[in-house]
Amino acid sequence: MPNPHEERIRAAFTRQAPTFEDARLNIAFTSSVPWLLDHVTPEAADVGLDVAGGTGIVSRALAPGVARVIAVDSTPAMIAEGRRRADVEELANVDFVRGTAEALPFASAAFTLVFTRFALHHLTDPRRAVVEMARVCRPGGRVVVMDLVASADPEIAERQDRMERLRDPSHVRMPPRGMIPQWLQECGLVVDRVADREVDRPVRQWLEQAMTEESAAAQVHEAFEAELGGGAETGMRPHRGTDGVSLWFHQLWEISVARTHPDVS
Ligand SMILES: C[S@@+](CC[C@H](N)C(=O)[O-])C[C@H]1O[C@@H](n2cnc3c(N)ncnc32)[C@H](O)[C@@H]1O
Repeated sequence: MPNPHEERIRAAFTRQAPTFEDARLNIAFTSSVPWLLDHVTPEAADVGLDVAGGTGIVSRALAPGVARVIAVDSTPAMIAEGRRRADVEELANVDFVRGTAEALPFASAAFTLVFTRFALHHLTDPRRAVVEMARVCRPGGRVVVMDLVASADPEIAERQDRMERLRDPSHVRMPPRGMIPQWLQECGLVVDRVADREVDRPVRQWLEQAMTEESAAAQVHEAFEAELGGGAETGMRPHRGTDGVSLWFHQLWEISVARTHPDVS
């Protein structure tokens, strides 16, 4: 029996699956792929695992440059949409598997490149997923984690998470900035690189993409407008777009690239 949080994830991503890659609502997820791939540095012999890979945006981008890639995800509708797109794109080396990030359905050391993007903030035990990623990565392989990250100030982080949860109740909490590299190190991995970037996002499309309930969307708008009027900080740094009317806000994305020791099994 799925627990209440698993139900929330399934409901949220079953709803979002058909429009997950709709460029009118969300260009950030596809336009950021080159930035991710720059850090991942795929190799032709790589056997990749995309943890909580959704529709496989990253897997499908990676597929032409690697031997094989598997996207594992817990939401059947996301997997179905990913398979459909992989078929259309005639990608024969991408597979989709149903499973959970916290208990990956793969043997230890099965992959040379294990990555996840925009998923840890949906997990109740994100550290467990990082431990699992390290387990399934072969000695000498790479583990790459990219996610939204919160302010290192817990009070601001709580306000940021409140906005994210209003938008999508399946959001749990963003790892604080710098926490992911620490988890990777605690798993015995060597962290080679940590980079971040600020991303400016339009509020209306961000809410529409998650199909945010009307009253919750109104609360987000109210909080952002109140902050712009000199009220309490949301932590999201809202501002007006170049049209002087639309609302925008900032997210911070962090990527960590780690490797397993070649002689550790
Ligand atoms: C925001 S989407 C990101 C999808 C993809 N990684 C990307 O960057 O395009 C989050 C995904 O995490 C999946 N997910 C959430 N919790 C999960 C879990 N515990 N195990 C596996 N997948 C999970 C959801 O089904 C959804 O497809």
